[in-house]
Amino acid sequence: MKVEIVTKRAGEEAVVEYEYRMRTEDEKPMVLDVLLQAQATVMPDLAFRYGCRARNCGVCTVDINGRPRIACRARIKDGDRVSAMATLPVLSDLVVRRDGVARQLRGRLSTAGQANDLNIEAPEDYHMLTACIECYACLHECPMHARNLEEAWPLKRPPEEQAGPTAGYAHGNPFSLLKLQRLRIDPLTPDAGVEAALDNAVALGLDTCIDCKGCKCGIGIDLMGKVVRPLLDSVNDRADAST
Ligand code: SF4
Ligand code: SF4
Ligand code: FES
Repeated sequence: MKVEIVTKRAGEEAVVEYEYRMRTEDEKPMVLDVLLQAQATVMPDLAFRYGCRARNCGVCTVDINGRPRIACRARIKDGDRVSAMATLPVLSDLVVRRDGVARQLRGRLSTAGQANDLNIEAPEDYHMLTACIECYACLHECPMHARNLEEAWPLKRPPEEQAGPTAGYAHGNPFSLLKLQRLRIDPLTPDAGVEAALDNAVALGLDTCIDCKGCKCGIGIDLMGKVVRPLLDSVNDRADAST
């Protein structure tokens, strides 16, 4: 399968025709497969980004035939052209400058010197919480989540009493608390949403956290400092305010 890869260095564009070697006869490769193979063979200095390879991080986006696609999830076919996103400035080959988009929300000056007045950038803690990759490693030894295992875990219940595959869990866990805390500190969440997030945390069993030794995040998010304690403090503050 032959594809075209558009490279760009020092403002100079070039189109390189690359012949992808199929690994099996019926392989339907993703764009990222082609880029990785090209870099590993005849284009060692080809610049492109990727991270999770599972459609989670978004950094691998490139244009395919002029339309943006997620390289680790988009199939590529014979004759396709891969180029950098046309909507952002190109740094090198398929790597684009991404930071200006987020900066817009901080109310900073644009490159044209014009101020924007959005200034709705979330606090630092919010960005820390957006790093969650939903791996669920934090559920380990969580007594709140353990109640779910007691009530619905298939291995502990006779088959006729097992929860179905679409059933949710009644009790919370560090991840669900993280999501609720993130909602609470999102500057765009209305007051009613902030209250509802706290109500939901309580309903999921937040009081279990009071006597718990704590939870650990698989990627190092400070769950106790940035999620559990702020939620518990907010519940206390709310109770104090209502007395
Ligand atoms: S361990 Fe960390 S990254 Fe994984 S789901 Fe829990 S909070 Fe998210
Ligand atoms: S602090 Fe709360 S969320 Fe964390 S493990 Fe304990 S009960 Fe679960
Ligand atoms: S590598 Fe993360 S979304 Fe493609």
